[in-house]
Amino acid sequence: MELKNEKWSLDKFKEIREEVLQQWPTGKDVDFEEAIEYHNNLPEEQIMAEKLAEAKEEDVTLIQPRAGVALIDEHIELLKFLREEGQADLLPSTIDSYTRQNNYEEAEAGIEESREEGRSMLNGFPAVNHGVKACREVVEALDAPLQVRHGTPDARLLAEITLAGGFTDYEGGGLSYNIPYAKNVSIEQTLLDWQYVDRLIGYYEENGIKINREPFGPLTGTLVPPSVSHSVAIIEGLLAAEQGVKNITLGYGQCGNLVQDVAALQSLEELAEEYLADYEDVMLTTVFHQWMGGFPQDEAQAFGVISWGAATAALGKATKVITKTPHEAMGVPTKEANAEGLRSTKQVINMLRDQSLLSNDKLEEEKEMIKQETKQILDRVFELGNGDVAQGTVRAFEAGVLDVPFAPSKYNAGNLLPARDDDGAVRFLNHGNLPFSDEVVEFHQEKLEARGKSEGREPNFQMVIDDIYAIGKGRLVGRPRS
Ligand code: 5AD
Repeated sequence: MELKNEKWSLDKFKEIREEVLQQWPTGKDVDFEEAIEYHNNLPEEQIMAEKLAEAKEEDVTLIQPRAGVALIDEHIELLKFLREEGQADLLPSTIDSYTRQNNYEEAEAGIEESREEGRSMLNGFPAVNHGVKACREVVEALDAPLQVRHGTPDARLLAEITLAGGFTDYEGGGLSYNIPYAKNVSIEQTLLDWQYVDRLIGYYEENGIKINREPFGPLTGTLVPPSVSHSVAIIEGLLAAEQGVKNITLGYGQCGNLVQDVAALQSLEELAEEYLADYEDVMLTTVFHQWMGGFPQDEAQAFGVISWGAATAALGKATKVITKTPHEAMGVPTKEANAEGLRSTKQVINMLRDQSLLSNDKLEEEKEMIKQETKQILDRVFELGNGDVAQGTVRAFEAGVLDVPFAPSKYNAGNLLPARDDDGAVRFLNHGNLPFSDEVVEFHQEKLEARGKSEGREPNFQMVIDDIYAIGKGRLVGRPRS
């Protein structure tokens, strides 16, 4: 099948659908007409797009955790706890690693073992194995919208089952769930597989059902320069809108410098509005991810990191924030620790709800720079695709015009080296083949030279290493001997 950014015909979609629904026995329980009926009867408070629209209107930042365990009853109990004790506004179901790899046999074994052991032996909720009915049990036990959060290159069957199961939001995308997660899956393949997911959601929309889509913003974490993740987010937004998706939440992961992070959130929304202007009735919202890098072991220090993320999300007026927990350095958190991350976040957000970061020269300069960089990247992507953003994306990755630092994918050039400047903002130490103007390149050079000067060293690879480990040592910028 040829990859093009063009809405799939319903016939083409249905042809592939027959294969997808046969990938695991639970696929046969998906009945689209009946699922439409089910969604029509969902209470409004469980429709993600409605909740997000309301939050955007009222300028509030909603909070959402990550959470998932192997068995239905325990999963329900966990989510209820996060809703009641954590005051979560929106709920997730984090999917286990086997399901993310389409390894449903191992997921089944994990379910069995979990039953025998009396505790979760999977690192998430195996929604495909549990099937449509079980997903609905989860939805019906709760009073908030549910989103699927995963990391799955081929997420077609998972989408079919969870959406028929009453979930109203789906995370991921053909780039953001490939490049940071897989080594050997081609970009062409994941873009096609995610066109299927987007077309499915477009099909729901054609039938009056709102399903929200959220490209995964942070990619590989806290040292991804905003223009790199923005380019990916906007491409995924465009690809989704072409297939008929109407509700899109674009994401950005905290880098740590307040001004840069607020500039990133504001410019993401403004750029996306510009690039998606040709698509009618698209509702755009934003999500901010609290620190997606290494965490301090000490829980008190972890709360500091969490609170700084909460403050940034509130001041940047993100529509929602994905929270971290004081157990982040240890692994999957207990439900108590998860609720603590939520409550500390809510406290900060409530305190800041009537404040915003005042517009100032520094903020405007950051926004302008992020916009210029993103436009320079996207212009070249369109050029490489002769106007087709899907084809342009494949070629741009081949040429290193799109490039994600620290990504495992062999389809990613991996030429970029980011490092923090003297204020902790993320800059390009090496911009690889990104098609930047001299002005942009010099801006980054100067920023890093200024840091080098104050540390008495040349900007070099050691800075990158120091920055990666800094937060665990209680700092944002990895200074020598600090
Ligand atoms: N429950 C809670 N958090 C989870 N994460 C991954 N799986 C789960 C789960 N089942 C979190 C990690 C990390 C982020 C990427 O997702 O702890 O913070």
